[in-house]
Amino acid sequence: MLFKMENIINITVEDRNGTTQTIEVPTDINLSLMEILKASEYNILATCVGMALCATCHVQILNGMDSLSEATEQELDMLDTLPDADAESRLACQLHLTNENEGLTLKIRGTLQ
Ligand code: FES
Repeated sequence: MLFKMENIINITVEDRNGTTQTIEVPTDINLSLMEILKASEYNILATCVGMALCATCHVQILNGMDSLSEATEQELDMLDTLPDADAESRLACQLHLTNENEGLTLKIRGTLQ
């Protein structure tokens, strides 16, 4: 008998080199998307440690934007400071994924300095 994994979703991540891979993300642990990406060995500075103050966790949502929680004023203000941010931009540290986010696809855009 096959057991369905209730609290694991698959998301697709494109790195700065254009390499894409699908990773499994548990949704029943209290980690932000930034922390999950770092745990998956993506190079994200996260200088402000998730306070929406550095924007080095900038990601572009390629699929699934509607399934994410709305950005706060603080997140939008920070994104406004980025020259390359657009309507698909989010800060990964402000996102906590749920089972609704199955199939989310994103590209890592944060700078390394
Ligand atoms: S880690 Fe600094 S804004 Fe997300």
